[in-house]
Amino acid sequence: MKFGHFDDVSKEYVITAPDTPLPWINYLGNEDFFTILSNTCGGYSFYRDARLRRLTRYRYNNCPLDSEGFHIYIKDGNIIWNPGWQPVKTPLDSYCCRHGLGYSVISGEKNGLSAKQEFLVPMGSNCLLMRVTCENKSGASKRFSLFPYLEFCLWDALDDSSNFQRNYSTGEVEVSGNAIYHKTEYRERRNHYAVFWANRDPAGFDTSRDSFIGTYGSPAVPDAVISGCCKNSVAHGWQPIAAQQFDITLGPGEAYSLIFGLGYIENSDDDKWEEPGIINKAQARRMISEYDSDEAFSRAFNDLRDYWERLLSNYRISSSVEKLDRMVNIWNQYQCMVTFNMSRSASYFESGMGRGMGFRDSCQDLFGFVHMIPERARERILDIASTQLPDGSAYHQYQPLTKKGNLAVGSGFNDDPLWLIAGTDAYLRETGDWSILNESVDFDNDASLAQPLIEHLRRSFSFTASHLGPHGLPLIGRADWNDCLNLNCFSEHPGESFQITGANEGPVAESVFIAGMFVKYGKAWVDILRHMKLDSEAAEAEAAVLSMEKTVLEHGWDGEWFRRAYDAFGHVVGGRECDEGQIFLEPQGMCVMAGIGKDSGEAEKALKSVQKYLDTEYGVVLLTPAYTRYHLELGEISSYPPGYKENAGIFCHNNPWITCAETVLGHGNRAFETYSRICPSYTEDISDIHRTEPYVYSQMIAGKDAAGFGEAKNSWLTGTAAWTFLSISQAILGIKPTLDGLLIDPCIPADCKEYNVSRRYRGAVYNITVKNPASVEHGIKEIRLNGDICHNNLLPLLPSGETADVQVIMGT
Ligand code: GLC
Ligand code: GLC
Repeated sequence: MKFGHFDDVSKEYVITAPDTPLPWINYLGNEDFFTILSNTCGGYSFYRDARLRRLTRYRYNNCPLDSEGFHIYIKDGNIIWNPGWQPVKTPLDSYCCRHGLGYSVISGEKNGLSAKQEFLVPMGSNCLLMRVTCENKSGASKRFSLFPYLEFCLWDALDDSSNFQRNYSTGEVEVSGNAIYHKTEYRERRNHYAVFWANRDPAGFDTSRDSFIGTYGSPAVPDAVISGCCKNSVAHGWQPIAAQQFDITLGPGEAYSLIFGLGYIENSDDDKWEEPGIINKAQARRMISEYDSDEAFSRAFNDLRDYWERLLSNYRISSSVEKLDRMVNIWNQYQCMVTFNMSRSASYFESGMGRGMGFRDSCQDLFGFVHMIPERARERILDIASTQLPDGSAYHQYQPLTKKGNLAVGSGFNDDPLWLIAGTDAYLRETGDWSILNESVDFDNDASLAQPLIEHLRRSFSFTASHLGPHGLPLIGRADWNDCLNLNCFSEHPGESFQITGANEGPVAESVFIAGMFVKYGKAWVDILRHMKLDSEAAEAEAAVLSMEKTVLEHGWDGEWFRRAYDAFGHVVGGRECDEGQIFLEPQGMCVMAGIGKDSGEAEKALKSVQKYLDTEYGVVLLTPAYTRYHLELGEISSYPPGYKENAGIFCHNNPWITCAETVLGHGNRAFETYSRICPSYTEDISDIHRTEPYVYSQMIAGKDAAGFGEAKNSWLTGTAAWTFLSISQAILGIKPTLDGLLIDPCIPADCKEYNVSRRYRGAVYNITVKNPASVEHGIKEIRLNGDICHNNLLPLLPSGETADVQVIMGT
């Protein structure tokens, strides 16, 4: 069942029923000011950091769900309604939400009156704009009132939701003209305030929630709206809000628009006040006047469209398959940019108060956006690397505001260091910018320890190479990619963190997955070294990689699949002898991607086992059989009920590993099958089962052992975005950036006859047409560049600005 449809021309998802299975959200903002907005106008805004500079309130696990946001109320006679349906939930005569790239338009109609709310965060500005347009579609004149309403957060979202003894007394506002200023704590150490404004004069306002909603009222029945009259309240403590009242009369066919804004302003310390106690509003006034007309609003809209048009033009497919094209050209790349902006901080599943930037997550996210914003990818790599510890290990997380490693979580996640090689390698392959390796980068944010970036990669590699366990496999530490496989934790007390309890590094527990990573990204490291003409170091590294490959086949192979790990007692995890958790997805994906057992047959067998044991109609589960009881020696993985999260959920993040692995073996049909099974545009028809947004990936879909099999959770902020983009754009469609240029190597379903990809790469545009007359899954018969035959499938590098026509004929 669907609740809307894709509009590919406008690059929008159009939601046609407000009561979607869950709130379906969008992200507005590309730089410092962000807003999360649902299809019923729920959501919140923040500046840079969703915890420390939260502008508006949001109660995540509230009942009813999603009732705080950017609502407007319309009182038309005795009927009160919202264009976005919530919070009053008056049935609408029509409703529509269009989530586009960086903007959303939500409109409703009731009794001949329509109202449209258009939301965007202008490029280069620290504000959210909302234009409201009302139109009288009835045959008679209409007189009605319109009330915008939002609730301020007292900046630190965590404190705001817990420290009531203080913050019920601190709230302060100022009202001046058409604007309401939220200035809590500005009198003391803050130099920032928020401002809500309208471009027209209101008939009244409220800034105290008690006044507008009523102490025992609710957003569904606000006192002021019901009585038709704001009370001009000024908040002192309690809950400061911004609400205004506009009384509007429209003749038949007449329309009326208003522009509202929510801005964030910072003043320098010596320029905070206009006069004692009155905040300096000069910057706010400038912001307000910048967007006071429909023309200004439209200009901001056009700038935003241009920005996205440019970003998305670097990789564009046209095939005859619209589900594929819309994912590759629009939604998958869009989601990659959102993960760049947000990491894992703020969504409807991430409160914005918890995690900082993940070391491994951020390195992997690079795969999805490096072709769009290489300069920012560069900056990101250097930020991440400067949190690395001198021995090559890494803080698992760092804070976006300070860019410093997070002490509370610390280090010991032994896959982390290798992801830095993976991310930097992706950057080098995309840009050819070798200068990054010479950049001087701190260790542990300590300038006295700075070394060129290449030294960071060297230490990443040697950290893994020198932390091996009894079988010669890498020690797992606190966990590897699977944060919940905690083999050194042994937690017996509720509430203890599985990730930071117990030994940071046990001397026994080993990870076959990290071994696979070491082979895959170790090979990338060897290529980098060769490129740098560091041949003897390259040879040494290669020897270590080859020996790891052997070790995996010797101790990591179970007969039909790759094992997962050895626990702290040296027992196999993910093998036939286990009563639960016999086979795991991660090592099959990573080891085959690394090419382990490709020539000797293990790779083929491993992927067959994935299909046989882990496949479901909704995707590949992480392991089977699911853990049914708590295993002290395994940690968090066995704490989840069977079928959820890491305990046999369909973890979308590593489904594309299987897709990529299948292409290593030339299996185009199967690769596309695993790709499309979790792909949002392909699963749109089961939105009632998935429940999350049908235009983006979720982190997890409940697996076959779960009561809610097929139900997705944690939409938006997931490594799935980057990995699926990599799997489709590189592994399947076969346009692969390498250190030496673009390599053409498609691995596609046999029935795919033709497609075209326009790829901007190192400044040149390659217009690549792939034809498959012999219906093969893999293999190239001929490539021509501007009509000339190429002798191999590596396209020559072209001067920046040039466009080339590339014709590829697949076959044998
Ligand atoms: C989450 C984490 C990621 C981890 C994965 C599996 O997606 O953000 O770092 O690898 O879960 O545990
Ligand atoms: C990942 C996992 C989650 C776990 C967390 C701990 O996000 O998905 O289950 O609790 O890591 O860091």
